[in-house]
Amino acid sequence: MRLDRFLSNLPRFNRQEVRQLLASGRIRLDGQTCCDRHSEVSVFSRVELDDELLQTGKAARYFMLHKPIGVVSATEHPEHRTVLDLLAEPDKHELHLAGRLDLNTSGLLLITNDGQWSRRATSPQHKQPKVYLVETEEPIDPACIATFAQGLYFRFEDLITQPAELEILAPRRARLTLCEGRYHQVKRMFGHFQNKVVGLHRISMGAIVLDERLAPSQYRALTAAEIACF
Ligand code: URA
Repeated sequence: MRLDRFLSNLPRFNRQEVRQLLASGRIRLDGQTCCDRHSEVSVFSRVELDDELLQTGKAARYFMLHKPIGVVSATEHPEHRTVLDLLAEPDKHELHLAGRLDLNTSGLLLITNDGQWSRRATSPQHKQPKVYLVETEEPIDPACIATFAQGLYFRFEDLITQPAELEILAPRRARLTLCEGRYHQVKRMFGHFQNKVVGLHRISMGAIVLDERLAPSQYRALTAAEIACF
């Protein structure tokens, strides 16, 4: 929400008073004097008028988890353990996943309470590369490289996938970089070549790389530099 709207929503100020407050430099947003009525105020913003606190600002929380196989990427599930069950954190109901991995996929999963951040991390417009290590049942056909780079037709969604980069590391192992995250995308791409994916592990999203020190099921808070990636 815009700063001027945030202030006008408080019962004590009318629009003219809000304009004056902003012009007089009495409003501080996250510790900085702010005169720009267009500045964005979220639930995480601290807003002050002189020495008075108008909004404390909730703590934004960001985690990376090494998702193990067999745990579901959801906040609740009737049968399986969820990734949130692996976190020893308070107020877990406020957290959500920035992207998902299939039940039998392992690797980097980002978890946060910041909806704007997770949209930037996952929305197709932002085209953040996601890197996967893939193991297949059959040897990988080198023709996959050109086909994945050109894009594949997905009938269900009626679209062509974004260009993807495939690097064959061994006859049945490859590194695949996608800039989108369609349902079962990697499995469907290899399925086009009648090759079953038998192992899938995500190693990065954008510039955030799964910390090698995290064993499956372990997690840690993101650093300030990692948070700033999205
Ligand atoms: N593609 C898949 O097929 N599965 C995943 O978990 C992620 C990408």
